Amino acid sequence: MDDALLIAMVGLPARGKTYIARRLSRYLSWRGHPTRIFNVGSYRRELVQGHQTQAWFSPDNVEARVIRLNLAMRALDDAFEYLRGDGSVAIYDATNTTRRRRDLVLQRCGEEGVPVLFLEVVCDDEAVVDDNILATKLEAPDYAGMERDAAARDFRARIEHYTRVYETIGDDDSSYVKLIDNGRKTVVNRVHGRVSERALRFLMVLSRVQKPVWLTRHGRSEYNDLDLLGGDPNLTDTGRGYARALAQHVKAHAPEGLQVWTSTLRRTIQTAEPLGYETFQFRRLDEIHAGICEGKSYAQVEAEMPEEYAARKRDKFRYRYPRGESYEELIERMDDVVLELEREHRPTLIIGHQAVLRVLYAYLMGTEREACPHLDIPLHTLLELSADLYELRESRVALG
Ligand code: F6P
Repeated sequence: MDDALLIAMVGLPARGKTYIARRLSRYLSWRGHPTRIFNVGSYRRELVQGHQTQAWFSPDNVEARVIRLNLAMRALDDAFEYLRGDGSVAIYDATNTTRRRRDLVLQRCGEEGVPVLFLEVVCDDEAVVDDNILATKLEAPDYAGMERDAAARDFRARIEHYTRVYETIGDDDSSYVKLIDNGRKTVVNRVHGRVSERALRFLMVLSRVQKPVWLTRHGRSEYNDLDLLGGDPNLTDTGRGYARALAQHVKAHAPEGLQVWTSTLRRTIQTAEPLGYETFQFRRLDEIHAGICEGKSYAQVEAEMPEEYAARKRDKFRYRYPRGESYEELIERMDDVVLELEREHRPTLIIGHQAVLRVLYAYLMGTEREACPHLDIPLHTLLELSADLYELRESRVALG
């Protein structure tokens, strides 16, 4: 359990803990730290019979308190089980609102030898809390079939029960991050270690609002016609046709405030030209570097360097072209792009390349990272990933 970490969420209901847990889990998994969420609410729904109204959550309900503690410990045990196996990070998604409960988590983590990072989400803005209730809670299984007003009243009463016993994390020795009012203030205490530091960097830019992201490869290039790798070729006439079709589509359908990013290679810059937008060129978005295979065709590589060809076929994710890159390294290169994308408040169109877009797509859609070298990102197709609360949804538009 060398790299193991338990991230314990802290905070009242409807503060966005689950949203943050899911986003963080997707990011850390993409960075190569297998992460799973252990949500105590799901344990309750699965293991406790019937429907629990607000009274069940009252701190005065002794019987339910025992059950709640048992459920919480069961989820925690499963988290340790996961960390003993293939898991690297377990996100313990519970309220953990009392000091006593957090001490228990610390004690169990101490026994298991797993470091813990508390991640508290504080939000005192009633309007945001109300939005969260409306957006996530009323459709949730707890309120299936219930009239919306009654459900909202019940949920607010549930929050009241937790508020009575809530103790925010004080200035103590534990390792914690406190996110206050959606980016207004962040308090960080004793955050050490590779995974925690990575998580912190991500949390600092994470926004509650997910913006649409559109992805497209450049139009067909001279190298695409010849099936050659890499290089810095120009677009073909067909490729220029795609650039015009893309511009028409963007003009008619682009979300407001769209910004356009390209790589520094000619084929993406030329694809952006007919758009008439100011574009930002990122070197980091340049295509995977094929090292000594740049400018060769796959057939040539197979004939001239059969061992290299076979090695890439065996493990395309880890294979590094001699003096070039692997997909695994491409994820590292793309990390800053992802953080920049999260930091942005505007929707973004990225005109990129096959391998680079596979890696970005894997992050955005939560695809298993080792599967990314095999994702299908065809030429002359625009992928519109539109924002939902928890996920991005995808539609593909063939153009040109
Ligand atoms: O063929 C176009 C291209 O963008 C090359 O420049 C690049 O090496 C390749 O695709 C990446 O795809 P794959 O990893 O499947 O070879």
